Amino acid sequence: MLNKIEPPGSNKSTFFELLGGEAGGVENIRKLVETFYDIMDSDPKAQPIRAMHPADLSSAREKLFMFLTGWTGGPQLYIERYGHPFLRQRHMPFSINESARDQWMYCMIKAMEQLGYQEPLMTKMAEQLYGVADFMRNQHG
Ligand code: HEM
Repeated sequence: MLNKIEPPGSNKSTFFELLGGEAGGVENIRKLVETFYDIMDSDPKAQPIRAMHPADLSSAREKLFMFLTGWTGGPQLYIERYGHPFLRQRHMPFSINESARDQWMYCMIKAMEQLGYQEPLMTKMAEQLYGVADFMRNQHG
């Protein structure tokens, strides 16, 4: 369970701050990504997108962790290591349609639920991530 989420109306602003900021943000994002990929790796609903990934998910886990740490407003770990993410371009080798996008969001929302994310963080972060996931779409269906 997360215990660092501030109530609505507090002056905490970024997702990273709501997730604990310097005190626990990095650790909470690590947990989110680990849970997200554990779900992708085991839930039959995510099998089609799991199959797009290599057997070993450790690199994907590390890169999503680094990316989301910066994306939420924390240290820009991904950019410091790899430069501009060019995320849409990097996803072009994979056939991402509405169904793939929704499977990705399904894993992420399930991970947030399992970790006890509360409102308004849950909905706001899911909405913002949906925008990114939809931007990755390069196919219909
Ligand atoms: C919409 C559905 C999505 C699918 C099916 C998908 C699939 C993939 C796959 C197959 C890889 C390659 C993994 C590897 O080679 O180990 C990847 C890499 C990555 N994805 Fe996604 N992804 C999706 C959405 C997203 C979203 C929404 C984000 C960010 C919020 C994201 C962030 C990343 C990052 C940071 C990488 C590593 C890029 C690199 O190689 O440096 N992906 N994704």
